[in-house]
Amino acid sequence: MLLYRKPTFNDVDEIYNLIDGYAAKGIMLPKPHSVLYEILREFIVAEDVESKKIVGVGALHLTWNELAEIRSMAVHEDYSRQGIGKTIVEKLLAEGRAVGVKEFFTLTYRPDFFQSLGFEETTKESLPHKIWKECIECPKFPNCDEVAMILDEPLH
Ligand SMILES: CC(C)(COP(=O)(O)OP(=O)(O)OC[C@H]1O[C@@H](n2cnc3c(N)ncnc32)[C@H](O)[C@@H]1OP(=O)(O)O)[C@@H](O)C(=O)NCCC(=O)NCCS
Repeated sequence: MLLYRKPTFNDVDEIYNLIDGYAAKGIMLPKPHSVLYEILREFIVAEDVESKKIVGVGALHLTWNELAEIRSMAVHEDYSRQGIGKTIVEKLLAEGRAVGVKEFFTLTYRPDFFQSLGFEETTKESLPHKIWKECIECPKFPNCDEVAMILDEPLH
C-alpha cells in the first residue's frame, strides 16, 4: 500500500537518492541536500507502507502570480507505470489550486507522461522571464533540451 504525504527532514536522504539515481543518467538535474532542506515543503512523497521506502517524489514551485512549476518528478523504476507519478502530480495540482494557481508548467524530458495529465507543449519563450533565473544555474544552460509544457486551468 502507498501513502502519499508531505516529507520530513528524515526523508531528505531518500529524496536525494531517488533524484540522484536519475541525475547520474542525465535524465534529471541533481538536487543537493542544501537545496532539498530549503524546498522540502514543496514536495509530496509516495511511501511504500510495508517497506517504509520513499518510491516517488515530486514538487510544486510557486513561480509568479497564479503560476507554478511541477518539478523534480521521480518514481523508482521498480514502481513505474502504476500511476504513482500521476497521483503525485494530481496532489501537487490540488495544492497549487488551493493557493490560487491558474496555470502550471513543467520543463521535462518526459512529455508523454505530462501529456497524459493534460499538459500541452509550449515554447520556452512564452514562459515568464523570471524562470530563467534558475535556468542560469543549470549546468546545461543555455543549451536546454527540455520540453516546456503548460496546463491551463479551465475557467469556472
Ligand atoms: C516520468 C515518471 C515520473 C512517471 O512516473 P510513473 O509513476 O511511472 O507514471 P504513471 O504510472 O503515473 O504514468 C501515467 C501515464 O503517463 C504516461 N507514461 C508514463 N511513463 C511512460 C513511458 N515510459 N512511456 C510512455 N508513456 C508513459 C502513460 O500515459 C501513463 O499512463 P498508463 O500507464 O495508464 O499508460 C517516471 O517514469 C520517472 O521517474 N522517470 C525518470 C525521471 C523523469 O524523467 N522525471 C520527469 C521529470 S523531467
